[in-house]
Amino acid sequence: MCGIVGYSGYRDASDVLVSGLTRLEYRGYDSAGIAVFEKDGNVTQVKAKGELKNLKNKLSDEYKPVGITGIGHTRWATHGEPSDLNSHPHRGRRVTIVHNGIIENYAELKAFLTDNGYEFFTATDTEVAANLLDYYYKGDPLRCITDFMSEVVGSFALGIMFDDIKDTIYAVRKESPLIVGVGDNEAFIASDVTAILEYTKKYYLLEHNEIAKLTANSVEFYNHRLKRFEKELKIADWDLNAAEKGGYPHYMIKEIHEQPTAVKTTITPRIKNGLPDLSECGITAEKLQTYRRIFIVACGTAMYAGMVGKYLIEGLARVPVEVDVASEFRYRNPIIGKGDLVIIISQSGETADSLEALKISKSLGAETLGIVNVKGSSIARNSDMLIYTHAGPEIAVASTKAYMVQLSVMYLFAFKLALAKGAISIEECERLTKGLAATPELIQNSIDTVINDCQFVATKLVAADDLFYLGRGLDYALSLEGSLKLKEITYIHSESYASGELKHGPISLICEGMPVIAIATQKSLIPKTVSNVEEVKARGAMTILVCDEETVFGEETQKALDYIIKVPKTDEVLMPMSAIVPLQLLAYYTSVNKGIDMDKPRNLAKSVTVE
Ligand code: M6R
Repeated sequence: MCGIVGYSGYRDASDVLVSGLTRLEYRGYDSAGIAVFEKDGNVTQVKAKGELKNLKNKLSDEYKPVGITGIGHTRWATHGEPSDLNSHPHRGRRVTIVHNGIIENYAELKAFLTDNGYEFFTATDTEVAANLLDYYYKGDPLRCITDFMSEVVGSFALGIMFDDIKDTIYAVRKESPLIVGVGDNEAFIASDVTAILEYTKKYYLLEHNEIAKLTANSVEFYNHRLKRFEKELKIADWDLNAAEKGGYPHYMIKEIHEQPTAVKTTITPRIKNGLPDLSECGITAEKLQTYRRIFIVACGTAMYAGMVGKYLIEGLARVPVEVDVASEFRYRNPIIGKGDLVIIISQSGETADSLEALKISKSLGAETLGIVNVKGSSIARNSDMLIYTHAGPEIAVASTKAYMVQLSVMYLFAFKLALAKGAISIEECERLTKGLAATPELIQNSIDTVINDCQFVATKLVAADDLFYLGRGLDYALSLEGSLKLKEITYIHSESYASGELKHGPISLICEGMPVIAIATQKSLIPKTVSNVEEVKARGAMTILVCDEETVFGEETQKALDYIIKVPKTDEVLMPMSAIVPLQLLAYYTSVNKGIDMDKPRNLAKSVTVE
């Protein structure tokens, strides 16, 4: 969602802002803009609807403000259509701001400000925020910001410049993330650290209701009572290379190829003496024995990683698991409490619904475990226990490596829990853990084995309007993710069904040539899924089956299978780590064939920081 960058230093602010916004492009946006304090002391704004290149063209063809302090923004529209006018920054009379979040009481505030003589020219809640700041501004920026905070309902991360305080940026956040970076004689604000890695790795995490004041040579922090305090300086462990394409045509394919390393980095330190060890995350056998029920709450791909987790945990540890969509969980008055464990899975750690689900779970007395990729993110900081995944920065909107490492953590957790509950023997746990430890090679092998097949089969999918994914058990959990991946980046309508549900309705949609992708890696379920494939074939579907390399089919069955993609075999329970690879690659190559920029698919944002 919206990306914020701010700069005060000695470099050309326009260049720094545009370079930061370029690094935040992956978050998703529909327009962009910058505002710079020019040498004459005026604030000049340049904004453009659409891709960042439109803003860059304007800056090179029309006018590029010259100055050393400024704020910039990529906007993902919430209030008002994407347009030059609605793009940020927005101005109050003496104030310029960029904003990420939603001002929920903006209509009420707008009416109040209108009564007080303010005029509005855009449809945005941000213009209301800018004018409210102006209303409260009586020469003391910090006081003005705290007055603003006490009036506004909703979420916000703001970069603020006051006309009469040159070369200074103020920043404040509530819910929406913001960091403050520091270099030599320069300071930054940004929605995330990738925006500033080119200049510095040193940053502070701004917490809720904290205010920062930045100039080239100083950074000061204040709480909402205007008491100044010091913060802990953090050093980013992501380097710039990790956030660049490194020779690949797209971030998505680069990230698919990074999966073996990401899994290795995630699991290796958590396997000790051949068994899973999560003690550094606060998870001990004694603690695990106490949980009666487990809830896994997340959104999108992270939730589908949780679905795999459910099958694993219930199958191995025999502990009941409910998987919830975070946006539903938070409003369904969940029946949870002491003795329950709520696992929140999130790549960004900033997904608004997941964060709220975490807070609700804690308030109801459940223990919480965050499985999070981004260090220091809100979900990471608010969870009782925390397992970081080590995927590095995931730039492509379509999640691949983050999903894979989430799966790897689900395995570690399920094995550890099953052992703690006495549901599996130590020998069985060692055997499973050994299999997990070998998954980095397995994933690499899977990529190498299926990449050509996927490129070929993807050519058969480009013309499809609708498509089904089928599976049973773990394969069903996997098919949900395969289907989401495809629809996100190819714009083909795709649904995933538990194979057994087909005859209860969805089969009526099968028509001549419609692709159906079935996943069948679980031995006892293969005959059942295959017979469902035969049923759709009989009704004209084009069938694609993903199975392990050792599966053999009789002659009759072969006839029903138009394309077979065989993945390397491992222990049945670990097959998702191998079988997800072709689903990712099929989506990727179909997107390539359709000429879609899958790293930035339409309408989607990488980090969904508003409801
Ligand atoms: O950052 P999170 O893991 O909390 O994000 C959750 C979803 O928004 C995310 O997985 C989304 O579904 C991806 N675009 C999937 O590729």
